[in-house]
Amino acid sequence: MFSKETYTGRREALAASLDGGLLVFPGNNESPMNYADNCYDFRQDSTFLYYFGLNQPEVAAVVDVDAGTATIFGDELSIDHIVWMGDLPTVAERAEKVGVSDTRPFGAVADVVAAARAAGRAVHYLPPYRADTTLWLADLLGMAPAEVADGASLDLLRAVVDQRNIKSDEEVAEIDRAVETSVAMHVAAIRMAHPGMNEAEIAAEVARIAKAAGGRTSFPIIATIHGETLHNHAHVNQMSDGDLFLLDTGAETALGYAGDLSSTFPVSERFSERQRTIYELQLASQVASVEALAPGVPFRDVHFTGARVIFDGLKDLGIMKGDTDEALAAGAHAVVFPCGTGHMMGLDVHDMENLGEVWVGYAGEPKSTQFGLKSLRLARPLEPGFVVTVEPGIYFIPQLMDLWRADGTCAEFINFDELDKWRDFGGVRNEEDFLITADGARRLGPHKPQTVEEIEALRG
Ligand code: GLY
Ligand code: MN
Repeated sequence: MFSKETYTGRREALAASLDGGLLVFPGNNESPMNYADNCYDFRQDSTFLYYFGLNQPEVAAVVDVDAGTATIFGDELSIDHIVWMGDLPTVAERAEKVGVSDTRPFGAVADVVAAARAAGRAVHYLPPYRADTTLWLADLLGMAPAEVADGASLDLLRAVVDQRNIKSDEEVAEIDRAVETSVAMHVAAIRMAHPGMNEAEIAAEVARIAKAAGGRTSFPIIATIHGETLHNHAHVNQMSDGDLFLLDTGAETALGYAGDLSSTFPVSERFSERQRTIYELQLASQVASVEALAPGVPFRDVHFTGARVIFDGLKDLGIMKGDTDEALAAGAHAVVFPCGTGHMMGLDVHDMENLGEVWVGYAGEPKSTQFGLKSLRLARPLEPGFVVTVEPGIYFIPQLMDLWRADGTCAEFINFDELDKWRDFGGVRNEEDFLITADGARRLGPHKPQTVEEIEALRG
């Protein structure tokens, strides 16, 4: 946990950016897998963690902007809970650690909100992403559950996004730690992989390292010989000589901050010539994208910098053709790069995606609906304090290639016969994490091995 001054300062800054009213922050509850007492690992809501730090279920908090107060609502543990799950300090003792001196039973939040509503005061809350939170808010606010999302406060949402988008030094230090563990996860995987091994063995080892470091993985592990599937969470294949392995995984620290890295490496000890060709093209795209990072530069431009390298490289291979500017505008590169170059990262691996990419990554500007570009999560001009990932990729997705060929999408820019020769290739992605600084960007965490030479040195 950070110091109580950190949490108090964050709440005061938030309150200062709003005109008045109550701000309601529900914490997350346990989430049952198959019956009430058999739950997924508990994960606190990131906004609750940011302002109130408490990493336990069944607490909520209210900031009264007009009175300048903060209250944490929670019940003391029952003897049954203590017997089965263990004890915790009292709610007041836990609240004191985050600078909150006013604590009340959980049920009292209803009285506080009812009094504010009766007085005609604004009650601000963020759009919920869990059904139980939606039902709780509906009950609290006298709404139908279906009305809750629309009643969320855009003023609060924008204030939270503006604050959480800029990482403080102590947050950056925490993210550095997350990335350090993430690099260790990748190095271990690159070293251990061999033909005959199962993808699940790699997934198990990287999860072990994340947990042993005191946290967990920050999102479901992608560990696959089918890296052409962008978010492939199945670990069901046996690895063979000649396969290309894509690992996309990161650690989350005990405080909840994420790392997010991707690596691609041959299951054989060396890249084949074919693998090396595409691998080095992806790496060149990533290096160019990283060099483009600077305050004031729209991340959309960073995205197109990398896309240009990929398109021109594939043009050299005879897979693409035509004018590069026209092709990029038409989205032709999306046949092999159907996603975005990166995203914000912080307490969430896709930071605040629950609050909407339009606000987090686009500063309120509408997103493109073009295939490929619609999946760019971040486009706004970069600012010092932003933490972003850079992860352009090259993916040969047979179904997408066949679809575009059949309906002639971007046919003036794609040699489908040449593209088809790569249909069994798989996918390549390298991903690193960066802090935007006053004059450029700093790579977070230690160096991740990713040149061909570095990868092959780790492969034995
Ligand atoms: N690393 C997973 C993602 O960025 O979506
Ligand atoms: Mn990522």
